[in-house]
Amino acid sequence: MNYVQLEKLGEGTYATVYKGRSRLTNEIVALKDIHLDAEEGTPSTAIREISLMKELRHVNVVRLHDVIHTESKLMLVFEFMEQDLKRYMDVHGNRGALDPATVRSFMFQLLKGTAFCHENRVLHRDLKPQNLLINKRGELKLADFGLARAFGIPVNTFSNEVVTLWYRAPDVLLGSRTYSTSIDVWSAGCIMAEMISGIPLFRGRDNTDQLNQIIRILGTPDEQTIKRILHDSPDIQYRPLPRLPKVPFQTLYPKVHPLAIDLLDKLLQFDPTMRISADEALRHPYFTTSAAISTSAQGYDLNASQSFPKNAQDGKTVGAGAV
Ligand SMILES: Nc1ncnc2c1ncn2[C@@H]1O[C@H](COP(=O)(O)OP(=O)(O)O)[C@@H](O)[C@H]1O
Ligand SMILES: [Mg+2]
Repeated sequence: MNYVQLEKLGEGTYATVYKGRSRLTNEIVALKDIHLDAEEGTPSTAIREISLMKELRHVNVVRLHDVIHTESKLMLVFEFMEQDLKRYMDVHGNRGALDPATVRSFMFQLLKGTAFCHENRVLHRDLKPQNLLINKRGELKLADFGLARAFGIPVNTFSNEVVTLWYRAPDVLLGSRTYSTSIDVWSAGCIMAEMISGIPLFRGRDNTDQLNQIIRILGTPDEQTIKRILHDSPDIQYRPLPRLPKVPFQTLYPKVHPLAIDLLDKLLQFDPTMRISADEALRHPYFTTSAAISTSAQGYDLNASQSFPKNAQDGKTVGAGAV
């Protein structure tokens, strides 16, 4: 192999990830060693899927340099990133919570990467802080995707931990299999709330508990919404949900600017058809109003709007600080 395998960086659902160095260029990379079933080898669908990922090039999508496929091994070579968002929050956050400017910068980059994938008809399906990588320039990139589609949505990780449901959309929890781009938007909303507060928003133990946690905040959707969801996703086997009132996000996060709250509301719509798209979300005033990242105890001046620094609009870094 043309790469020297260095220390282990992480272990996830399908693979172990190592730091690596190219023997040819000395470039530092991440080597993702996919665990293959010794008997079955690599499914050809997986290979096709992974080849597609190679074409997906964007500043906010982790770059797949190479696919090394031998009889016994499947190794993906990625650009190296310093840490994932979960660790970033642990290390840089105030008990996990990030400052408003960083939240906005990371949300902008997350939505940029997501919108790009959606434009290219690629769903991520497993957006969560562990699957978002941050480099020392404060760039955020989507990682760990394609595999979900290639290998199926996992229930257990390689280390037999149960895969987290915390970022899963309610329509998926209800059993919908008509996956669309809206499932990634839901996850982005959960991630935004987590960056704001340092605590995952909905922490269910299982499917039912996850749904209950969601309606404990969003409130139980009304009859019409339920009807519409069931109409759009006939594969849902619906059991009536407990009736609960909505808890406004502004009550949950009183210090957060109303524009951030408004975006959060639009990302976290129970009904997938009502959820904002990643592309629309990028045009939300939260990203263009400078006051939206001020932490003001005296209230917010919504008229004091200046535009967001220009480089942020190109998907580059703003205010994220060094890693
Ligand atoms: N390109 C990379 N650079 C640095 N660390 C990475 C990279 N890719 C993955 N990691 C680390 O390894 C962990 C598991 O990788 P991931 O691609 O999410 O695999 P899995 O499918 O097994 O979850 C990540 O959460 C991250 O901490
Ligand atoms: Mg992962």
